[in-house]
This record gives sequence, structure tokens and C-alpha cells, in this order.
Amino acid sequence: MDYKNIIFDVKGNVAVVKFNRPKALNAVNQDVFLEVNDAIDRIEKDSSIKVLILTGEGQKAFVAGADIAYMLDLSPLQAKKFSRDGQDLLFRLERLPIPVIACVNGFALGGGCEIAMACDFIYASENAKFGQPEINLGLIPGFGGTQRLSRLAGKAMAKELCMSGAMISAREAKEIGLVNRVFPQDKLWEETMKTASLIAKKGRVMLRAIKECIERGYDIDLRDGCYMESEAFGLIVTSPDRKEGMTAFLEKREPDFKGELY
Ligand code: CAA
Repeated sequence: MDYKNIIFDVKGNVAVVKFNRPKALNAVNQDVFLEVNDAIDRIEKDSSIKVLILTGEGQKAFVAGADIAYMLDLSPLQAKKFSRDGQDLLFRLERLPIPVIACVNGFALGGGCEIAMACDFIYASENAKFGQPEINLGLIPGFGGTQRLSRLAGKAMAKELCMSGAMISAREAKEIGLVNRVFPQDKLWEETMKTASLIAKKGRVMLRAIKECIERGYDIDLRDGCYMESEAFGLIVTSPDRKEGMTAFLEKREPDFKGELY
């Protein structure tokens, strides 16, 4: 598929999906979803890719939300489908067996904030702004914002942000637990790549197990979550990378993880 709304690039073992509709501040519509889904298909087939970064083209926006012009005349069923398609794409990011980092370089509003929240963690530039302003349009969040924001920042904060429609700065987003780190605008990409490259050196099997345990364990009780962790811990012992990691430590050298499956 030729991409018109995203830029897909692979740098070594790090894949980058860049939302590329700068004239609409990278707002997303069904065409964007089709292209991102296609890029994810490609990532899933390429076992050399260890990390995915999502970011926005230009200096101003990550994604300023769902495309308002596109949504203007949607029927109820079309709106439901749009919401479901967005939600399905975000579940795909959460289920992707590799880490996904949101590199938020400007506005992350509405659907943009929702996309960022479905990534494994968020790095943001100092000029980034977050919010769920759907209420100002006579809407509510539709790509899981009411659910993920309350899980990340607590119920009361999610209610305040969704009900007020107010934007918050990157620093405030860090304070409420939405963003992991904030960097000056000209350092954001470099710092995101630094962390992506560090993670890309780890074992693929371990990365997947950690992501699955945290993602799937989050919504279940502690005992069941810990049980799931033990199951994964036991299975990991069979991985060639486990042997490599422990042998490399004892031999006082850097491990060379191959990412072979069990
Ligand atoms: N959809 C479509 N176009 C958008 C857009 C969006 N979400 N956000 C910005 N644009 C367009 C503007 O219409 C404008 O286009 P023109 O140049 O053709 O007029 C262009 O991007 C630049 O935007 P502004 O001139 O408004 O730029 P600004 O710097 O003055 O303001 C902004 C920036 C505060 C982000 C403002 O654009 C804004 O409020 N955008 C809308 C944000 C929003 O409400 N997002 C939620 C959408 S609903 C949603 O996401 C539902 C869901 O959960 C599924």
C-alpha cells in the first residue's frame, strides 16, 4: 500500500510511524487507520523490528484529534464504526508484541491523546499539549479516552479533563502520570531514539512477556496477575536468550540477544 497520510520508516530495528497530515494538524480519519493498520501488518511480519515509535510530522502536532471535517456528517452507525475502528487500532498497539513509544511533539488532543495513551509510554516535548476537548464539540471521547485516562491518571483527573475539555501542558501531563518524560523540543527525537535503541538491544521474548504481563495483569486482581507472571517467568527459562543473558553476565560481557522464540 502507498501511504498518503503517514510516513513509515524503519531505522535499524526501530520502526517509525509518523502521522502526516500537517495541514490538519495530523488529525486522523479512516484513511489514516487503514494506513496505520497496514504498517502494523508489515511490522508484525518483520521479526527484526524491536520497537515502534509513533510521532507527528511538523513542529506543531502529534495528532490534534479525530478529523472534525470527516466526522461532521456521520450517521450514528458510521460514528459507532469510526469509534470502534479507532478503538480496535489502539487495542492492536497494546497487543503488539513489541514496545510502542509515543513521541509527542505538539498537540495530542482528543483522538491524539487517546492514541498516545495506548502506547506503552509517552515522551513529550516541552511545547506538547494534552487534553480531551471533545466536549467542546458536543462529543465525548470515542477512542477509549474515558477508560485509559482514568486508568493512567485516576478517575477524578479523567473526569476533570473530559468534562472541562481543558488542555494541559506536558509538565502537568507528567505530574498526573500521563507522560513519562519531558524534553526540550529539539531534544525530543534524540532522547526517544536513545531509549528505543536501548530497548531494542533487549531480548524480544522478554519484551513481549513484560508487555503482556503488565497489559493483561493491569485489569485483573493482584494474585491472578502474579500467577500470570509466574507462568511467563517459567516459560522464559526455556528461551535461548535467557541462557545468553545469564552466561554473558557470568562471563562479564555484553549479552547478544537473538530473539529466538521458545
Ligand atoms: N480535525 C480537522 N482539522 C483540524 C483539527 C481536527 N481535529 N485540528 C486542527 N485542524 C485544522 C484546522 O481546521 C486548521 O485548518 P485550516 O488551516 O484549513 O483552517 C488547521 O488544522 C490548523 O488549525 P488551527 O488554525 O485551529 O491552529 P491553532 O494553532 O489556532 O489551534 C488547536 C490549534 C488548538 C489544536 C486547534 O486546531 C483545535 O482546537 N483543534 C481541534 C482539537 C479537537 O477538538 N480535537 C478533538 C477532535 S474530536 C475527537 O478526537 C473524537 C474522538 O475522541 C474520537
